[in-house]
Amino acid sequence: MHLITGANGQIGSALSKALIQKYGSDNVLLSDIRPIQMDAKFVILDVLDKNAMQQVVEINKVTHIYHLAAILSAKGEANPIWAWDINMKGYLNILDVAHNYKVEKVFYPSSIAAFGSDIDLSVARQNDVRNPETVYGISKVAGEIWGKYYFDKYGLDVRSVRFPGVIGWESMPGGGTTDYAVEIYHEALKHNYYECFLDENEALPMIYMEDTIRSIIELMNAPKEKITIRTSYNLQGISFAPKDIVAAIKHKLPNFKVKYVPDFRQEIAAAWPNVLDDRQAKQDWGWNPKFDLEKITNDMFLHLKPIYEKEQC
Ligand code: SER
Repeated sequence: MHLITGANGQIGSALSKALIQKYGSDNVLLSDIRPIQMDAKFVILDVLDKNAMQQVVEINKVTHIYHLAAILSAKGEANPIWAWDINMKGYLNILDVAHNYKVEKVFYPSSIAAFGSDIDLSVARQNDVRNPETVYGISKVAGEIWGKYYFDKYGLDVRSVRFPGVIGWESMPGGGTTDYAVEIYHEALKHNYYECFLDENEALPMIYMEDTIRSIIELMNAPKEKITIRTSYNLQGISFAPKDIVAAIKHKLPNFKVKYVPDFRQEIAAAWPNVLDDRQAKQDWGWNPKFDLEKITNDMFLHLKPIYEKEQC
């Protein structure tokens, strides 16, 4: 049984559909603290409730866990200790239950937020020093190292990638610094106008949802001996700044207007790398992103335009 935590979240909801398609609805169990909209096997699960987690894993004979429940960077800064508890204690519960109940594999998403401004931010290499500057980033780095600890000490097969900002039409992100790159498509189609909370030149690594989901499935299915990184693999999709996405949208909506009103999230973004060097992921398990900014923009418009056109009727 494949268990997903945070199944209601931005990546969780897309991953849920993909895993159900791949493994069948009987073999996938979705969990979240809020009920889901999908017709699928589902259980309410607070990742801080270790007893409940144990029961879910034992009763359902869980073999794979995809741990996506987390508080993102911007939201975490508003309430650091709360964010730390959910991100860190939640993950420690996952690791310990996975170890005790002999779960075969655990997927853990780390992030570009693992890095801080003391490296060369033009490109973060796989083993660059990680001195994050947000509580989200601190929890991700600690999580990476805990995953390696459980692998080294107990042989628990924990696999992880450092995700760029994730863009998709299926679901909305919440509380992140890269959220602008999703919101902008919705606002462009709804109002032909967007107020961007990052500086127009703030380049960040991004990845399309289809590539994101494929990376999880490919990493989880890679032969064990190919996995040489047990902290977390750098993963690159495509890097761009707000002004680039605006230009891509303007190709489709020439009258689209943007106002740049950088807020506290600009400071967070400024301490993240522009690009992630993902050669190790490419070499070890064949990572190969397929979506560039043009393809992303075409696909976002393809799916979102009909939705907003229908709403306007
Ligand atoms: N998307 C995340 C955020 O913006 C980064 O991993 O917080």
